[in-house]
Parts: sequence; C-alpha cells; structure tokens
Amino acid sequence: MPGTCVIGLQWGDEAKGKLVDLLTSRFEVVVRYQGGANAGHTVVVGDKTYKLHHVPSGILTRGVVNVVTPGVVINPPTILREIDSLMAQGVEVGSNLMLSDRAHVVFPWHIAEDKVMDQATGGENIGTTLRGIGPCYRDKVGRAHAIRLGDMLRPDFAQRVEHIVAAKNKLLIGIGSQAEALDAVAIVDEYSSYARRLKPYVAETTHFLLDAVETGKNLLFEGAQGSLLDIDHGTFPYVTSSNASGVGVSGGSGVPGRWIGKVIGVAKGYTTRVGGGPFPTELDDAVGQRIRDLGREYGTTTGRPRRCGWFDAVAVRYAARLSGIDCISLMMMDVLSQLDEIRICTAYEIDGQRTDRFPSHCDDLRRVKPVYETFAGWQTDVTGVRVYGDLPEAARRYIDRVSELVGKPVEIVSVGPDRAQTMFTGSMAV
Ligand code: GDP
Ligand code: IMO
Ligand code: MG
Repeated sequence: MPGTCVIGLQWGDEAKGKLVDLLTSRFEVVVRYQGGANAGHTVVVGDKTYKLHHVPSGILTRGVVNVVTPGVVINPPTILREIDSLMAQGVEVGSNLMLSDRAHVVFPWHIAEDKVMDQATGGENIGTTLRGIGPCYRDKVGRAHAIRLGDMLRPDFAQRVEHIVAAKNKLLIGIGSQAEALDAVAIVDEYSSYARRLKPYVAETTHFLLDAVETGKNLLFEGAQGSLLDIDHGTFPYVTSSNASGVGVSGGSGVPGRWIGKVIGVAKGYTTRVGGGPFPTELDDAVGQRIRDLGREYGTTTGRPRRCGWFDAVAVRYAARLSGIDCISLMMMDVLSQLDEIRICTAYEIDGQRTDRFPSHCDDLRRVKPVYETFAGWQTDVTGVRVYGDLPEAARRYIDRVSELVGKPVEIVSVGPDRAQTMFTGSMAV
C-alpha cells in the first residue's frame, strides 16, 4: 500500500521531524497535510540542525518530492525565510517542493486576531503560537474573507485584499485590538512580492498525489502537532485548529484513506505540552524541571518552556486508537535514563471511579487523578546503544509495558536526536 503516516500521539513535539527525515529514504514523496507555521520540526543531521515549519522534513533527502497540500495554512514571509535558510545550509529547494494553490494563506490580520482572541478566552488562555493559525482556518471555513495561495497570483488579488482589510479593520477594533489599522496598499505590495517569489513552487497537488498513489509511488505523510491537539477529538478548546490526529490525513491531502497502508504513532517516553489546557500527569516540581533540562524541552517555534510530565498511557491509547496506528515509535529514551524512578499513568480515577477512557470534556480531564505504576530507573547512558537487545533490561521492561498498555508494538526506539540514534525492530526493521 503506497501511504505511510507519521502521527504525534501526544500534544505535539514528539520528534516527528526526526522520524520523517529518517524514513524518507524509503519513500518518493513526503506530504504535509495540516497545520502551518505553528509546527516546529527539528532535524539533526551530523553537526547541522534544521528547523522546519511548513516544508516537509523530507526536503533534506535528495530526489524526494515534498508536497504541501490544501489542508496546510501558509505564512508567506515565514516559508520564504525557511526556504532561504535551508538553501543557505546547502539544501536544494526547487522542483522538489510543491505548494498547493489551494492552501490558505495567513495574513497580518490573522496574526492580529490571534493576539486578541487568545487573551479573550474566558478562563485559562489557549496559549497559541500566535502564528494566526486559528483565525486563518476560521476564515477558510467562513469563506468570505479567505485567500488561497493561487489567489495571490490572480489579477483581482489587490481588490480582494482591499475588501477584506476594510472589514478586518472594523472587526479588529470591535474585538479590542490595540494594533494600528491595517494598510491594504502596503499589504498588497508586500504580499505581491512574496507571491512572485513563491510562484515557482505553486502547483496543483491533488492530481499529483492521486497520480502518485495510482502509479504505486510510496508516500510518507508527516503529521504536525499531535492527536490530543486535534480540533474535533482533542482537549478542546486547548487544541489547534486542524485535524492533527490520523483522521486529518485524507481531508488535508486529498488522498483517500484506502491508499494508507501503515500508521506510525510517535510518542516520547514521557509527556510534554506547550500552552494552556489540562495535563493530568504534569510534574510541576524538580523532576519536571529535570526532564525539561535533560530533554531540552523548549519550543522549536516559540522558545517557550514545555510543560513536562510522566507518560500517560490512557491518553496515548486513546490517540493510538483514534489515529489507527500500527506501531509506536518511542522517542527520548535517553532522557529517562537519568532518572532514579519513572512512572507511567495506567488509568484515571474520577469521582472515586477508575477508568481507562480519556474524557471528552476538559473540566473532567482536569479532575482526574492519575493512577501510576512505578519503575526503577536504569541509570545507564543509552545514547550509544544501536541494537535493541543492548538496551538495559529495565529500559526494555518499560518499553514492553508501554506496548502492552497502548495495545500496539513499539517498533522504533530513539535514544538521541541524531539519525544514528535510532533502532528499528519488527515490521520497521531495515
Ligand atoms: P516535532 O515537532 O514532533 O518534530 O518535535 P520537535 O522537533 O519540536 O522536538 C523534538 C526535539 O527532540 C528536537 O529538538 C529533536 O532534535 C530532539 N530529539 C528527537 N529525538 C530525540 C531523542 O531520542 N532524544 C533526545 N534527547 N532528543 C531527541
Ligand atoms: P509540532 O508540529 C506543540 C499548541 C500551542 C497551543 C495550541 C494552539 O511542532 O508538534 P495554535 O497556534 O496552533 O493555534 O496553538 O497548540 N501547538 C503545538 N504544541 N507542538 C506543535 O507543533 C504545536 N502547534 C500548536 O502551543 O497550545
Ligand atoms: Mg515541534
């Protein structure tokens, strides 16, 4: 079956970028299908570190076509900076990158709205990345104020911007924005120059991908964010504005589910979350800080410290079922190596009742008491381990328990950011 997906099983930053880069040599096409510049995927190759926001992590492998599909929202200046930075690092970016003309564009009004709306949420803020993601998807669904990448190259682009800016200036005042009024002429000027630079990459991607699957090409789909941030199935309203679980692959890319043969769920050996929202296994103490320091848990996109906590098997099992995964890629096992004791949340207790079901309402998720199983740490440096059987027995026991609780085999184990620090077993063995 031509399609394989890499999907985050937690609240993002599970090291999807590392895994996609590593798997790319087995594929001909790599596809980003949702999210936008809120994503920050880090790929480490030798002494070079690449930070990708829109461009698929397949870009570092020569001969692979990287496709950004209609489900992604594109921020022109950010993607141009990303392309420039890749080229400055010696990466080829040309006909190996295709951007869908159907992808919606993030404009300055979306970023202005994001700033005001995040502050206006009753109670805890969502803590968005302030990249205009929610407002851009809102306008896409609303249609009247949406501009797609292909629209930027059409003769009525200036007219559309003027029409939208007139409405947005009123809206921004109405929702309490303190920002200066938007200047339509300046925006048209600036964004027309971005459009000219992006034009060589703009393409019709849906037929391209359908032709690819029908002719037996192998496609790798790169998820952004994580299943628990999914707009429909995540911890609403503390989610992103797209289908970040496996359910988003077809909708965002246009490739029917019948072409997807394998789904790899990516999880850290612990949990992190950036921004607001409930997090049952959060460690607001020295252990949490230790994990943050050891795992360098600071956001790739915003630099914010990531909240850290124990592995939550209730949440990951829910995400694994939702995303229809076949196997797990368990990352950051080197970080856990340094701890005396490690815990896994195996169930929740709510109102004195034990459950293994992930609740649908955030208020209930806030009330759950995690039930933990405790493991002795292995306290052995595993960053140099290259063969699964050479991992300390305690680490293998931990991995087996993760498999058992999530209900799927762990077939990839990562012990460091580098490509070489990865072990493949079972169906993923090379
Ligand atoms: P993504 O958004 O899912 O692609 O993940 P990020 O790139 O935001 O965050 C993952 C971070 O962990 C990156 O800095 C990676 O270089 C790093 N990383 C990946 N795998 C490992 C690992 O096994 N151990 C350690 N210590 N770091 C890793
Ligand atoms: P990658 O692809 C982690 C979080 C934000 C916030 C919420 C909504 O690198 O895993 P948004 O700007 O999308 O409206 O923010 O979602 N968030 C992420 N957290 N990794 C990401 O992407 C994220 N993208 C969005 O912190 O809580
Ligand atoms: Mg990230």
